[in-house]
Amino acid sequence: MSAPLPAARGPVSELALGLLLGDEPRPLPLLPAGIDVLRDDDVQLALWLLLELHHRGLQGVDPDLEWDPEVIRLRRDLEEVHLAAVHELVRDRLALVDPDDDLSAQIATLLAQDDGPSVADFLARRADAEQFRDFLRQRSIYHLKESDPHAFVVPRLDGPAKVALAELQYDEFGAGRPAGLHSLLFAQALQACGLDPAYGAHLDEARASTLAVNTTMSIFGLHRRWRGAAMGHLAAFESTSSLPCRRIATGSRRLGLPDALAAYYEEHVEADAVHEQLAVRNICMPMVAAEPELREDVLLGVAACLALDALAGREQLELWHAGVTQEVPA
Ligand SMILES: [Fe+2]
Ligand SMILES: [Fe+2]
Repeated sequence: MSAPLPAARGPVSELALGLLLGDEPRPLPLLPAGIDVLRDDDVQLALWLLLELHHRGLQGVDPDLEWDPEVIRLRRDLEEVHLAAVHELVRDRLALVDPDDDLSAQIATLLAQDDGPSVADFLARRADAEQFRDFLRQRSIYHLKESDPHAFVVPRLDGPAKVALAELQYDEFGAGRPAGLHSLLFAQALQACGLDPAYGAHLDEARASTLAVNTTMSIFGLHRRWRGAAMGHLAAFESTSSLPCRRIATGSRRLGLPDALAAYYEEHVEADAVHEQLAVRNICMPMVAAEPELREDVLLGVAACLALDALAGREQLELWHAGVTQEVPA
């Protein structure tokens, strides 16, 4: 149920692991100037570990550390540099939004700018089975706790937005059937593909950009202050899911991978088309109508989701292309 402890990737994750295993607290070492926090393996792993205490926890780590002041202090220090990098990453995207538009038009502007490279297209047309498994290992970091980060927001909303978030999450959490939990469906797909379905099993292979997608979601979900960003993130996530899921299912069937894998993605083709409407029209719009000061945060969340997915996607494709090049004889 809890994640296994991964190997450290540098001084920051070593510090976090030490703190979690009972070492005396030490201050965060000065991060190198110009560090690309969102692509830094060491920083992202440390942040992921500290945030994980609020999710399923870590094997061999005292659960009371979730609210330990020293652990929280380190988490806050890392969150601060992480959020500064996220703001920087989305600055140009947000500049394209017309401040006079209504919220749905502003969200549509951001979605229309989605320039992320299409991992789904690659999976549909070109990927081999090993590349598919590589993709699933990275995605397992999120899908094995699918929808959990956004669930932290439920008690922070009221009225129509709360009802719609509960409706959306009812689907994600199985629609009343334990066998329908989306995280379980993904675990079954992993197992069918010969991959370890255990929670956190692929953490050591998770790249910084994969972890950054996840740490951002958890930070937005865990801070009431960022509830607008969390729901904007959800809106972008659901709005960019349906078509890629169809392509991924196509790729899975093309390669003859187990049915459970295509079934997982096919389940999301229609569901996420509905979730997109719920998230934009029934969550974000009433939330901003009730609390107009959250509009900027909603847009930040939308832009952050798109930008971080693009970052992770670009990295994934670069690696695959490099691999493909190596295999082609000169
Ligand atoms: Fe889902
Ligand atoms: Fe969904």
